[in-house]
Amino acid sequence: MSSTNDLVAMRLKGKVAIITGGASGFGETTAKLFVKHGAKVIIADVQDTKGLSLCQEITATATATGEISYVHCNVTDDTDVKNLIDTTIFKHGKLDIMFNNAGISGDVDPTILGSTNENFLKVFNINVYGGYLGAKHAARVMIPQKSGVILFTGSIASVLGGESPHAYTMSKHAILGLMKSLCVEMGQYGVRVNAISPCGVSTPLLQNGMGMIDKGVIDGLLCESAVLKGVTPEAEDVANAALYLASDEAKFVNGLNLMVDGGYSVTNPSFSMAVHRLFAST
Ligand SMILES: NC(=O)c1ccc[n+]([C@@H]2O[C@H](COP(=O)([O-])OP(=O)(O)OC[C@H]3O[C@@H](n4cnc5c(N)ncnc54)[C@H](O)[C@@H]3O)[C@@H](O)[C@H]2O)c1
Repeated sequence: MSSTNDLVAMRLKGKVAIITGGASGFGETTAKLFVKHGAKVIIADVQDTKGLSLCQEITATATATGEISYVHCNVTDDTDVKNLIDTTIFKHGKLDIMFNNAGISGDVDPTILGSTNENFLKVFNINVYGGYLGAKHAARVMIPQKSGVILFTGSIASVLGGESPHAYTMSKHAILGLMKSLCVEMGQYGVRVNAISPCGVSTPLLQNGMGMIDKGVIDGLLCESAVLKGVTPEAEDVANAALYLASDEAKFVNGLNLMVDGGYSVTNPSFSMAVHRLFAST
């Protein structure tokens, strides 16, 4: 039996949510939070072993009324994405939340001459085409439902240049374009479309991208470069943003790119740092 506090805490009670890239990082943390809040979550990923063991872990520890299951889905494969949506409808009868989160950083070389065409196509295939397919197949069921929420994981690279490799930066700008374009069309059906754009957070993606797995070292770098001091960015911060945007509390929020970056993207400290260095050296 649920207590009153549990019910108050269940901000997604009865909602059906798909999370692509749900076996790891932001997707994994969001899946745990959504289930805690009473959602029926379908993790869609290509890491089958990880996805299935996460389902077992969440099921064993779930205290809320939520449920979790796993569907193998390569987001770049139209048939896989179609099957993901159809399986969800068969199992739960509706789709309330489509979180297009799967993504890769691609090669780390930041130069245009060092960029390979293969990397460009791979990054765009997963980060952009994958998000487009997820949105398209979700729209297929959300339009007749006349309700739903579509979310994308952007990045600070969706609004900033020069901090990530070209292909990644372009892919995140592109997904923001899709979010904006789609929110207008889907708005007429009562479907909200938003994005979440985190700064660097120590997930496997960033750890692999930086070629180091020491979370402490990465967290140290992130905190040193942060505008907002005293907190370390965590996957939970992204999951909490997704929870808000997916919930009815955000019922009039549409077309938003919610920056979860501690204010990093609103400033450019290069000039003031150069001035500080000048005075420090004189
Ligand atoms: N970690 C960061 O610093 C950071 C910052 C900003 C944005 N992001 C974005 O957040 C999202 C999630 O990344 P993360 O940091 O949690 O990384 P992660 O590597 O921990 O998780 C990404 C997940 O996506 C899955 N995936 C990759 N290709 C796939 C495909 N073709 N089909 C289905 N699933 C696939 C992976 O198997 C993995 O489980 C990505 O879109 C990433 O670009 C990450």
